[in-house]
Amino acid sequence: MKKPWAGRFKESTASSVEEFTESISFDWRLWPYDIEGSIAHTRMLAHQGILKKSEANEIISGLKEIYKEIQEGRFQWKKELEDVHMNIESALIKKIGSLGGKLHTARSRNDQIALDLRLYLRDVTKGIIKDITRFQKKLLSVAEKEASTIMPGYTHLQRAQPVVLGHHILAYIEMLQRDRERYEDALKRIDTMPLGACALAGTTLPTDRTYLARILKFKRVAENSMDAVSDRDFIMEFLSASAIMMTHLSRMAEELILWATEEFSFIELPDAYTTGSSIMPQKKNPDVLELIRGKTGRVYGSLMSLLTTMKALPLAYNRDMQEDKIPLFDTVDTIKAVLSILIEMFPKIRFNRKVMKETSTEGYTLATDVAEYLVMKGVPFRQAHEITGQIVRYAIERGLALEELSLDELKGFSPLIDSDIRDVLNVENAVKRRRSRGATSPAEIKKQIQRFKRIL
Ligand code: ARG
Repeated sequence: MKKPWAGRFKESTASSVEEFTESISFDWRLWPYDIEGSIAHTRMLAHQGILKKSEANEIISGLKEIYKEIQEGRFQWKKELEDVHMNIESALIKKIGSLGGKLHTARSRNDQIALDLRLYLRDVTKGIIKDITRFQKKLLSVAEKEASTIMPGYTHLQRAQPVVLGHHILAYIEMLQRDRERYEDALKRIDTMPLGACALAGTTLPTDRTYLARILKFKRVAENSMDAVSDRDFIMEFLSASAIMMTHLSRMAEELILWATEEFSFIELPDAYTTGSSIMPQKKNPDVLELIRGKTGRVYGSLMSLLTTMKALPLAYNRDMQEDKIPLFDTVDTIKAVLSILIEMFPKIRFNRKVMKETSTEGYTLATDVAEYLVMKGVPFRQAHEITGQIVRYAIERGLALEELSLDELKGFSPLIDSDIRDVLNVENAVKRRRSRGATSPAEIKKQIQRFKRIL
């Protein structure tokens, strides 16, 4: 097959080189953006008088036909034509003849791929932002339902203080909110128009890049032609936001896996979203959650892959950059799949309120409440901590819970302890009394829920 650069070459490209350098096997999916960019470019060339109106119209209808052919699966991608850009351009020339050769006026594949990626990522990022919002809404309705479900809160995976399940879920809604903001922020810079930078230095032809940005609905124009074709930081930002979000989702997955164990028995996962074992008939495994946890590694890897590819690359375009698409597409597919399965699955989880409540005071989780009770009676916190520690040790040695100690026993540790300690040693009260801003009391949770109802 004749290459667009054949003029300078005596020999044709080795087929092994075609095989090694092609990107069509993965960049074909940019086709709608590639055609959209080419149509806009053609309109600009006509607007500037570089092409005749009639020529532009013919090119545009050719491109539209190709669009249809691809959409309907009638288009044949060819490896010898390397990438999505050359496949489409050569199909156009085949279709409308040498006039098709005018499409590549005042552009290069270097600015073309930068444009395609930005158009693609602009769409994808908007979609992911919508998916995150949908997931947040699902979580919010569960948080609302569980706004007075008491459970043990943990630090170091040791029971710490009673909390409310709704509060725990709201913590994830907060994380996702920041994830959403990170994507929104990345979107500001993704939304920059690189076309017209040509290979690296711009062009001697009288193009209008501002017009191009307007018809392609970009908020900004890349102001330096060399930067426009050589950076991929907008993809790095997308991948970083994705890696951070996957950290959050992997933590959520891990907690659900733990909570579904016999040992915790906090939740029951829906049958339809778990898998069985081929050997052990009793098993019900949380594979979906494990895969979410596992895919996190893949997304981190993609970020590292692109950072490493771009490290120390001299300006401007280098073919190394073709490798950007593999980690990008893989991350987009992964993130979308993860969000979509969580949106389906999370609302179907059954929470075992009884076990959660019963375990919420096991392990002396009201000890801090006792210390704070003493503080309110004027005892310095450090001393109150010491006294309560002694009470806990006394109870442990006798195999009793704090609530089971008699008033006389408690008074033995501090004469300031009175019968009002009973209100303190009550888990409902313990939760209700945590009214500091953002704390776990139902009143504060209600505020958090209201806030997100407004935001979402
Ligand atoms: N397939 C290439 C890529 O993905 C497009 C740009 C190629 N430019 C070049 N001069 N070879 O990066």
